[in-house]
Amino acid sequence: MQNYIDSLKEHIEKRELLSILQNFQNKFGYIDLNFIEQLSKRINVPAGKIYGIASFYNQFRFKPKGRHHIKICSGAACHIKTKDNLTSEIYKILNLKNKETSSDGKFSIEFIPCMGACALGPIIAVNDRYFMNVSLNDFKIIISNLD
Ligand code: FES
Repeated sequence: MQNYIDSLKEHIEKRELLSILQNFQNKFGYIDLNFIEQLSKRINVPAGKIYGIASFYNQFRFKPKGRHHIKICSGAACHIKTKDNLTSEIYKILNLKNKETSSDGKFSIEFIPCMGACALGPIIAVNDRYFMNVSLNDFKIIISNLD
């Protein structure tokens, strides 16, 4: 992380901040709050302001992903077609307890407003592999094949 911060120039434009945050997240998987504090000192912008900008965009995560990252479409079309209390059952199956990442770090979950294939919903993605028309039973089978 320190090398990444050292590589940044000291004076940046506001519009560059988003790309710095995106690059950091791409490299480390999430936005570490220590990174925000160090970045604040490096570019002389208050940490609260950086956090405010980052938290405005739902693309940024502030916790690490699990080994298996699961995206669930939360769009209206998928929501209407979802049966079996799929989302709440997924939370139970993955032992997430209303958190984004399981305590053992195996699973993390993210909700996507629409994955762009509404007719094929409900849609989930596991480690960026997409599954369509997912039922609770399908989900259990998908998860059982993960280590
Ligand atoms: S609402 Fe799920 S893909 Fe559009």
